[in-house]
Amino acid sequence: MDWTHRPVISATGLFTPNESITNDELVESFNAFVERHNRDNAAAIAAGDAASLEPSSVEFIEKASGIKARHVVSKAAVLDPARMCPQIDARSNDELSIMAEIGVAAAREALEHAGRDPGDVDAVLCAASNMQRPYPAMGIEIQHALGIDGFAFDMNVACSSATFGIQTAADYIRAGNARSVLVVSPEITSGHLNWRDRDSHFIFGDVATAVLVEDAALAPTEPWDILGTRLKTVFSNNIRNNFGFLNRAEPAGSAGADKLFVQEGRKVFKEVVPMVAAMIVEEAERLGIDPHSLRRLWLHQANAGMNRLISQRVLGHEASADESPTVLDTYANTSSAGSIIAFHKHNRDLATGDTGLICSFGAGYSAGTVFVRKAG
Ligand code: COA
Repeated sequence: MDWTHRPVISATGLFTPNESITNDELVESFNAFVERHNRDNAAAIAAGDAASLEPSSVEFIEKASGIKARHVVSKAAVLDPARMCPQIDARSNDELSIMAEIGVAAAREALEHAGRDPGDVDAVLCAASNMQRPYPAMGIEIQHALGIDGFAFDMNVACSSATFGIQTAADYIRAGNARSVLVVSPEITSGHLNWRDRDSHFIFGDVATAVLVEDAALAPTEPWDILGTRLKTVFSNNIRNNFGFLNRAEPAGSAGADKLFVQEGRKVFKEVVPMVAAMIVEEAERLGIDPHSLRRLWLHQANAGMNRLISQRVLGHEASADESPTVLDTYANTSSAGSIIAFHKHNRDLATGDTGLICSFGAGYSAGTVFVRKAG
């Protein structure tokens, strides 16, 4: 075969957990926890030795974020006011890990859509915001479960893991180091969300996505040409998680709230919107694409208001639901998987020659753009 060294997206796959939590269910559980906390600590609160907790509200969540529900791998345990954390039973080393399991499910769907045999794939990148363990790599476990002969590794760029993974895969194709690369993003965000924190308890959901990036010579019909990829990082503490392997060396261990997701949401909103909008416009110009002509934006799914502002700046007008599809209403923020879910669910109706943008942004800060055009 004559290799083109031109990367395309051949197919995508999605795994959605069966269970979903509505805002009503979430707020009922959170408020039960708050009532219990305030009752149990009434004396200390009255004496000024402890702060009382405030209830959450469905109206606030929907208005501030656009999120109405989220899928999770362990609903009952998350909603139990005495627990508020997923319960996932330990598995033996001979069983497939849960992150690998959902990653494999998404990967199989992508391979099936592309009509691709796992034996044709050269590499697996497990690109996600948290890994279940340091090693052996989740990517290698996924590679093994799929029967892929080649190489795999894990990469974590928080919410931008998938787009950074796509650029890495595209660079392998461009350089000729691989012909077919699976970028798998299993995001069990419920494990690092502080379900007891009023400011953020509604934010995340669980999911897994897979993107098959290949040399155009290998691609099935109607792939998406990758016209250009661009990555950007700017250090910020506004989204942070201090969980890590050195926690056990600290006197406090790994129990603190800072060992879970923490953010200054308003600052993130204000700082990331202009950074990402400018990055998209600059990259479009570099590629000779008029940003106003983009047929669809598959944006990171963190906040409906952020996406409204970014699309407006890029397209020059308020984007319709067709131009900037939303999935965060039912999936919430699924970290790096969000823009890929949007692409997966909303790309088949576009016509040959249509140009669009997959774009992620989040902790780091990190942002990634992948401009794509539907090929015939
Ligand atoms: N229920 C009811 N009220 C709540 C609440 C809740 N669950 N959480 C916060 N509030 C209150 C606050 O106490 C505050 O009250 P005050 O005005 O009396 O002080 C008010 O609502 C506004 O809080 P704020 O945190 O400023 O809300 P916001 O409008 O900034 O929305 C986010 C919060 C998180 C939804 C929003 O900032 C966001 O999505 N930012 C971007 C985050 C992002 O992209 N992160 C990337 C993650 S990977």
